[in-house]
Amino acid sequence: MTVDLDTWRALSAQQQPEWPDPVAVTAVREALSVLPPLVFAAECDALKGRLAAAARGEAFVLQGGDCAETFAGSTADNIRGKLKTLLQMAVVLTYGASVPVVKVGRLAGQFAKPRSAGMETRDGVTLPSYRGDAVNDLAFTPESRIPDPQRLLRMYHTSAATLNLIRAFTQGGFADLRQVHEWNRGFLAANGTTARYEAMANDIDRAIRFLSAVGADSESLHRVDFYTGHEALLLEYERALTRIDSRTGTPYDVSAHFVWIGERTRQLDGAHVEFASRVRNPLGVKLGPSTSVADAVALADKLDPEREPGRLTFITRFGAGRIRDGLPAIVEGVRDAGLLPVWVCDPMHGNTIDAGGYKTRRFEDVMDEVTGFFEVHEALGTVPGGVHVELTGDDVTECIGGSSGVTEPDLKLRYETACDPRLNHQQSLELAFLVAEMLQRRRSHV
Ligand code: PEP
Ligand code: CO
Repeated sequence: MTVDLDTWRALSAQQQPEWPDPVAVTAVREALSVLPPLVFAAECDALKGRLAAAARGEAFVLQGGDCAETFAGSTADNIRGKLKTLLQMAVVLTYGASVPVVKVGRLAGQFAKPRSAGMETRDGVTLPSYRGDAVNDLAFTPESRIPDPQRLLRMYHTSAATLNLIRAFTQGGFADLRQVHEWNRGFLAANGTTARYEAMANDIDRAIRFLSAVGADSESLHRVDFYTGHEALLLEYERALTRIDSRTGTPYDVSAHFVWIGERTRQLDGAHVEFASRVRNPLGVKLGPSTSVADAVALADKLDPEREPGRLTFITRFGAGRIRDGLPAIVEGVRDAGLLPVWVCDPMHGNTIDAGGYKTRRFEDVMDEVTGFFEVHEALGTVPGGVHVELTGDDVTECIGGSSGVTEPDLKLRYETACDPRLNHQQSLELAFLVAEMLQRRRSHV
């Protein structure tokens, strides 16, 4: 049976660029459709299996990376820094959770952004909003903001180069557990962080020494599985990167292992949900505070009618002030409908504030949302399956608080994001230590 991959075209698609030249879009679409896959269907299936384990509480998901990757920012140093940060976090979380951590980068494809406003005004000048490097340029000039479909090709090639580096790093020894732990040691020494993180690092030391002593397979400590994911926003791009898997005869969106539908494009009768329902990748859907139980169940019915383990991840982003009141009904309703999605906490997108003209987030709000997420699942007996964060490996000053001591006046020092504020290296590791403590506490209860 062939699947029609173009049914979404008849539906309303939110957040699509207004490309000035439709003929150019067709040419780009055709060029993309014959380029090699960036990932393989079997890898997507492997990730689905790992996510199924996370839904049952037998693994924990770490998703992270930039809010918006940029072409200019896709340098070896930047990619290495983000990967290193994620690997360092994963070691700490693995220790806390005592189960494998499923690592999914917001990397190698996170180039398109939904915007709450189509236009942006500065000093009386109004121009189309920046929609990510896949569409237009961040510079505030009329030429830069015109959507250019050639950028979709550049998105593909930049994703390919990024993924190539990630594959080399994660398979070639860079990800060795012993080395990653040494980085964590160096981090703690440099930042004079509290004794409680030190104690956990000492425990990890002992565990690694024990593994060496018993001759645990050094190959398995040497490599890691690392997956990619991004918001499947630009439907022309995602459609052109969809291929029929020769093993199964079914379609996969081979632009990434994992794709998600954002809060602004998850309409049940919209084009994004329709498109995603046709591909076999593991899928995410962001759920914000306006979600009803009926919405969540209807999304699951549409995207995962077979109730396939690992197929569906709900990424909740309620905000610290709303999670404890808003999340329980959704989790309960979904559970009572017989569904077992992976529940992942995005503690970033519900906690964005304005501070002196800078979009920022308080580390304390981010942690409070994660804490609330764990509390809700604890009370319901359901599984907190992972976290989804915006981060970078650099010492930027975009989010405030935490032991990093970044304060409001510091925001102007190193504010480099093309979109939302990211946790810096130190804030990311601190989050990992704090989440690891929550996972440890949970383990001692269940
Ligand atoms: C994002 O993940 O960058 C994003 C836009 O999130 P949301 O769809 O949850 O607002
Ligand atoms: Co964002």
